[in-house]
Amino acid sequence: MDIAFKMLINYISKQSGIDLNQYRESYLKRRIELRMKATGNKTFEEYLSFLRKNGKKEIEELINTIAINVTEFMRDVTPFKFFMDMVLPDIANRKLKVKSNMLRFWSAGCSNGEEPYSIAICIYEALGSDWLFTIYATDIDLDSLEKAKEGYYDASQLKNLNKALLYKYFEKEDDGYRVKSFLKKHIRFKRHDLTTDTPVSRYLDGIFCRNVIIYFNDSQKSKIFNDFYNALVSRGYLIIGKSETLPSEFNNKFKCINLKDKVYQKI
Ligand SMILES: C[S@@+](CC[C@H](N)C(=O)[O-])C[C@H]1O[C@@H](n2cnc3c(N)ncnc32)[C@H](O)[C@@H]1O
Repeated sequence: MDIAFKMLINYISKQSGIDLNQYRESYLKRRIELRMKATGNKTFEEYLSFLRKNGKKEIEELINTIAINVTEFMRDVTPFKFFMDMVLPDIANRKLKVKSNMLRFWSAGCSNGEEPYSIAICIYEALGSDWLFTIYATDIDLDSLEKAKEGYYDASQLKNLNKALLYKYFEKEDDGYRVKSFLKKHIRFKRHDLTTDTPVSRYLDGIFCRNVIIYFNDSQKSKIFNDFYNALVSRGYLIIGKSETLPSEFNNKFKCINLKDKVYQKI
C-alpha cells in the first residue's frame, strides 16, 4: 500500500470510527477514486487535504460510497425459491421431531431491510403462521438500519413480488408500500460490524450474508465464517451471494448443497 493511500485510509478510519483496513485495497481504491472524481481531486494527497478542509460531510459521503447498500426484495429470486422449497421444509421437519416451533435467522449486512423482510415472507409462505420466529437483521450503516426499521419501499424495490404477496404483506401508502406490522414484529434490527463484533445470537437455523463479503480481505472472511459456523445449529444453513465464494479452508465445516444459489449447510 503506498504511503499517501495509507495516510488517507488511517485518517478516514479515525474520523469515521470505521476500520477501513477491513476492506480489500483494490475495492477501497475504486470507491475512493469515485469520490475523488466527484470532488475534483486528482491524487490521494489532494483528496486528504480536501477531507481535512471539508470535514464530516465528505467523510459521510465517502462512507456511504464504500458501504454501498444496493438491494431489493427476493434479490436474485432463485436462492429465495430454494430457501422456501428445500431449506425451510427441512428445518421444519427437524423441529417437529423435537416438538419445537421456534426458528431463528440472521440477515447479516441487511442494508435497507429488503432481505430480512423477504426471509419473513418466505417463512409465512412456506410454513404458514404457526411458527414463532425471529430474524436478526444487522448492518454497519445506521442510515440503512433506519430505512429498514421504517419498512417503506417504492415499487422498484418490490418488482420481484407478485400482486398477491404485495397485498398480503404490505399496505399501500402514498407512492410506495409499507411492510405490515405483523411481519415487522419478527425482525430485530441492530447495528453490528461483522469484522469486529461477536455473532448476534447462537442456535441459528440459518444465516443470509449475501453481497457483503466481497468487501473483505482473507483474514476478515475467516473471522466472519468462523463466527457463522459457531452461531449456527448443527445442519444450519448459510446462504451467500451468487457471485461470492466460501474460502476453501471452510470446506470441512460447510457442505455446498446448491452451488448455483450458494447455499451451504453446517457439517
Ligand atoms: C450490497 S448490500 C447487501 C444487502 C443484502 N444482503 C443483499 O444481498 O441484497 C451490502 C451491505 O453490507 C453492509 N456492510 C458493509 N460492511 C459491513 C460490515 N463491516 N459489517 C456489517 N455490514 C457491513 C453495507 O452497509 C451494506 O448495507
